[in-house]
Formats: sequence, structure tokens, C-alpha cells
Amino acid sequence: MFLAPLALAALSAFAVAGSTASCSSGSSGATTTDAGPTPSATFQPQGCGYTVGAVENFPALEAHAAAGSGAPKKVRLGLGGNVVAGQAAYADPSKTFAVVWQSDEATTATQLQWGDSATALSNTANGVSYVVAAEFGSPSADGDRYHEAHVCGLQAGRTYYYRVGGGAAGSEQWSPVFAVTTAPASGAADPVLIGVAGDTRDAAGTSKLPVWQAITGRLKNAGAHVALFSGDFVFAGADQQLWDVWTSAAESAASTVFLAMAPGNHDNETLSYFAHALMPGAVGKNYERYSSFDYGPVHVVSYDDQIGIIDPSSDDSGYRAEVLAWLDGDLAKADANRANVPWVVTFHHHPLFSSTTQTDRAPERALVRAAVQATYDAHHVDVDFAGHDHFFERSKPMVGDNPVATGVKGGTTYVISAGGGAPGYSTTPGQPQSAKIQQYTETSEGLYGVVSATKASFELKTYKLVLGTGTGPADDTVVDTYTLAK
Ligand SMILES: [Fe+2]
Ligand SMILES: [Fe+2]
Repeated sequence: MFLAPLALAALSAFAVAGSTASCSSGSSGATTTDAGPTPSATFQPQGCGYTVGAVENFPALEAHAAAGSGAPKKVRLGLGGNVVAGQAAYADPSKTFAVVWQSDEATTATQLQWGDSATALSNTANGVSYVVAAEFGSPSADGDRYHEAHVCGLQAGRTYYYRVGGGAAGSEQWSPVFAVTTAPASGAADPVLIGVAGDTRDAAGTSKLPVWQAITGRLKNAGAHVALFSGDFVFAGADQQLWDVWTSAAESAASTVFLAMAPGNHDNETLSYFAHALMPGAVGKNYERYSSFDYGPVHVVSYDDQIGIIDPSSDDSGYRAEVLAWLDGDLAKADANRANVPWVVTFHHHPLFSSTTQTDRAPERALVRAAVQATYDAHHVDVDFAGHDHFFERSKPMVGDNPVATGVKGGTTYVISAGGGAPGYSTTPGQPQSAKIQQYTETSEGLYGVVSATKASFELKTYKLVLGTGTGPADDTVVDTYTLAK
């Protein structure tokens, strides 16, 4: 298939993005001749009022059919909804959740049962599935059929219970029952907790990602129901075996904590990446590449900064113009909604500012700044989270390339949170934008953040964990506390 050269490129040149958009053929409009489910290009979850699409060249979406008896595996929370500004169906984690899981290819049963208690799963949502075969290496141990189901019309700040699976009568297979908690309304009294992490891939794709496993456990035990992950999940995005390790490491948390994803250069824009992500998106070829949602008092924006931004030569889909126009509109709308949702944060992979010693990365930062910095300044983004440089760094609040004068409010704080297990990098201290740096040793330590936000305050605590000790943030060392107040 057309992806094989990209897969090989992914393994031989990790910083090069293969592009699903560079191929024009697609199967989403295809029809089948056998008796199986009818594939379609889009899916409308019942009661949601939005349409689910697929990235260009993504396999056909197949409607639920009670065939097969494979067990559901690797159940992970996601979020659905269109991201077109102004639509009523805007992605809303206070009213909806979505779930992705895997099974063997023959199992097309895609149902989600949910309810108010673990023993009364009285509602059923039918979903869609799609087959993404391993682009490199062996097939997934969890099966190459990915299932996706959406639940809408929920109440804010409430815990629901669900399980996934289904099947023909008498041979149904169901997952365990999991709990999911919707985002609170923006004015809720208790602070929302939002995890922050990035760069979980190891140095050679050979470990079990123990740092990532420790971080996901911390975030779950901290009570966070969402985490922002800024890319470089795996060493090479085409290698399904590495995704299996990543989902295994996250497994105990991912059914409870929505791991919001933005792709990094190691994820290589592969179909495997998009198969594992369940993010909102504008229906079209760039579905799941950018999205936003309100999580209580925090407006969260994510985008793919690879195609057209870091890698202009790969953009033959018009992605750069599309995402930057959307970003400008979305941030303008968020800036006008501060009375309801006061905080605006963004996350993506490549930082705008960094104290890395890798001087060859300066052109990357210039490309990202050229793309988004003026938009951030115009709409007053509070905090930008990125990864890529494997340490923690927090900038001073910045307008343009300059720190805001001491005592003056405003500016965007740029945070690199890339201590998820990738090899630690060295830094050059003393850069004018830099406020705090924390390096780490990836073989024994990890770095992650927890945002605690109300309408009146926003606090980011960054922690350093030591592998083999502790289970929650209280067991770890606070390496930075950063507070914003309105
Ligand atoms: Fe990285
Ligand atoms: Fe990276």
C-alpha cells in the first residue's frame, strides 16, 4: 500500500513527517460487495447533532453490526464534536464523551452501554468501526479494528458508567464497566484538574514506557478527567507494536482520563496516529488535526503544527491556511467569552521558545512563531503548552519576542512539558525569555503538570516523579508552581 514507504521513512528519519495528505486515493466513498456493513465517509452519532468524519485516506467507517465475538481491548476515552465555530454541536465535554477501543478484524459489533450507575447501564449507543492494519511491523496484539462510539446529552460535572462491545445474541463480549465524569460547568466552585504531559516515546522503541505508565497513573489518582498531550507518543508512528506498548502503559487510566492528543514529529502523521486518537474535528480531510473545547473555566485548543507549519513542503491539502484561519477565529471567539470561560490555553508539539542546546531547532521555532505568534498575541492566549525539547521550561509572559515588563499583566506564558519518558535534553540557561527550567533523567524520572483552575485562578504545578516510588502527585516533587489570577 501507499503507506509503506512512509512507514520506512518514519523509521529511518524520525523527524520527517510522512503525509497522509500526499496521496489522493481514498476508500471512504467505497462500497462493499459482500454482506458486511456498508462503509460511509461520515457518521452521525445518535442524539449528538454533529457529524464524525475521517482524515483523508482514512479507511471506511463501518456501522455497527452484531458480527464477531472478539473481546474489546484497550478502551480509551475521547471526545467528539465538530469544531466549526458557532455550531451548536461544538465539542463539549460537559455534555458528551466518546470512546475508542480495538478488537479483532471480524468483530464489527460497536456498542456502548451507559447509565447513572454501574449496575444500570440502561442506554445504548451504536458506533462505527474501521480497520487500520499495521503500517509497519507486526499486527496489533489488540486487533486492527478500531471502534468508536459517542454519547451526548449528558449533564455537566456528573459521573456516568459505561462498557463497550456487543455482538450477536448469546456471544456478546463486553469490557469491564468504567466510570467517566463530564466536565463541570464553567462556573463550578471546585477547581477543574487538567493533566499536562508530552514526549513519552523512548530512545529506541524498546521499553515498556514506564514513565508514561507512571504519569497516567498519577493523573488518574490526582482526580484529573482530562490531560493534554503534546505529541511524540511513540518512537515511530507507523510501528503498531509501539502503539501497543503506549496503549498498554496508559491502559489503567485511559478509560477514565480523556487523553487529548496533538501529534508530534515522531508520530509521523500516520493513519496509526489517527486511529488511536479520538478528537473532535471539522468534517473533512483534516479531521482530528485541530480542535478546541471548553473544560470548565478553561478553553483548550489543540492543533497539528507539523503539516504546513514545521514542514511546509508536505502541505498539499491547504492545511496551513485552514488551521490558521480556524485558530484565529476560535481564539477571537474565546477571547470574547472570557466572562464565562476566563482562561485560554493551547497545546501542540513544537515550542515557540526554548533553551535547548540543539541549535538546529531554532528554525523550527521560527516557523511556529511565524504561523501563530501574532494570533496568540492578538487574542491573548494565557498559556501555550508544547513538547519536543525533553525537559520542562516555563517562559516569562511574552508579547511578541519580548517578556512583558515586571508588574505588567498580560502576555502568553510558553511551557514546554516534555518529560514523559523521552531522552532528556540539555539546556542553555540564561535565555532572556526563560523563567524556569527543569531537566530530568528519563531512565529514573518523569515530569508532568497538573492545572488547577477556577474562574478566578489558574495554577500550573509541575512535578518530578521517581520511578518505582509513589502513586500520586503528593508523592512527587513540585519543581514549579505558576499562578495566574484575573
Ligand atoms: Fe520529542
Ligand atoms: Fe518532537
